[in-house]
Amino acid sequence: MWRSVFLSLSNNGGVRHVATRSRLARGISSRFVAGNTLEEAVAATKELNSHGISVEMDYLGESVTDRLQAEAAVRAYLEMLDGIAASGADSQVSLKPTQMGLAIEEELCLSNIERIADKAARYGNFVWVDIEDSPTIDRTIRIYRTLRGRYPNVGIALQSYLYRTRRDAEEILSIGGTIRLVKGAYQEPPEVAFPDKRDVDRAFRLLTELLLCSGRFHAIATHDERMIQHTIDFAAAHGISREGFEFQMLYGVRRDLQERLISDGYRLRLYVPYGEQWYPYFMRRLAERPANLVFLLGNVARELLPVH
Ligand code: FDA
Repeated sequence: MWRSVFLSLSNNGGVRHVATRSRLARGISSRFVAGNTLEEAVAATKELNSHGISVEMDYLGESVTDRLQAEAAVRAYLEMLDGIAASGADSQVSLKPTQMGLAIEEELCLSNIERIADKAARYGNFVWVDIEDSPTIDRTIRIYRTLRGRYPNVGIALQSYLYRTRRDAEEILSIGGTIRLVKGAYQEPPEVAFPDKRDVDRAFRLLTELLLCSGRFHAIATHDERMIQHTIDFAAAHGISREGFEFQMLYGVRRDLQERLISDGYRLRLYVPYGEQWYPYFMRRLAERPANLVFLLGNVARELLPVH
């Protein structure tokens, strides 16, 4: 129930307007968002790098309906690539198709992402294409196929909660693509997505096996200890080395587990978002674990209350 409440709020313009002007809400969201600026994201990245953790930076933004906004997002990513190179940070980049103009025109979105992939290729960097809600997926995969034909340095996220994902994964593997497997963060109807979490988890395990057996490098993105253990066990049983795949997690989520994976010698990359457009991203994080809100409010209250 709470998942649906937070996911509907993530699309509510009125609440977004109030929340993004609230200093309290901004303070709470900082658990999951590295800051407003590229400089802050680079500083957070360097700190993570010093603990052996790689990063993929995300400039927050989505559902763009205006060409100028899409262009501003492209420029932010081009600057991000310059900033990463200049600082020597160990970070790839991750972007959303609807931030790049997918809702305006597919061709525009393709050419925008291509500009970023091209610059990333010149820096020897890598671009992840996030996957969004189900109506965008056909177009996102079409764009990815074209991009992958031109640039080897692009990967795409796929969601285990969708019935269609096995087919999509096989198609992407057949063109030599790179996949980040996630469970899926949007509100989807039972016509397209498993309503039962057990089915989502079962699909996640099977897709993990498909990716690990492909002989290519992919990312398993989850904070679910059972999915992580399954990945570790399956890889060990099939002679797949720790360098053959990576785990990915979100900035601010399950830091204990992050530390454990690093100390056990696994590759770990954190998704580090920054920017002003934090509201929908933050609401999806609350939807994944509503108890986060109580926890975060508790933290803020502790900071506001005088210490005796
Ligand atoms: P699940 O939701 O079952 O959670 C398992 C456990 O993890 C929980 O019990 C809790 O302990 C912990 N946990 C999970 N989420 C938490 C949170 N927000 N706060 C605190 N604890 C939490 N989705 C998408 O649709 N498109 C995309 O492109 C991406 N990209 C992406 C990149 C990366 C690097 C990650 C890690 C995730 C995504 N996602 C995503 C989000 C993904 O779809 C999913 O919503 C979240 O990862 C939560 O699912 P889990 O696999 O962690 O399992």
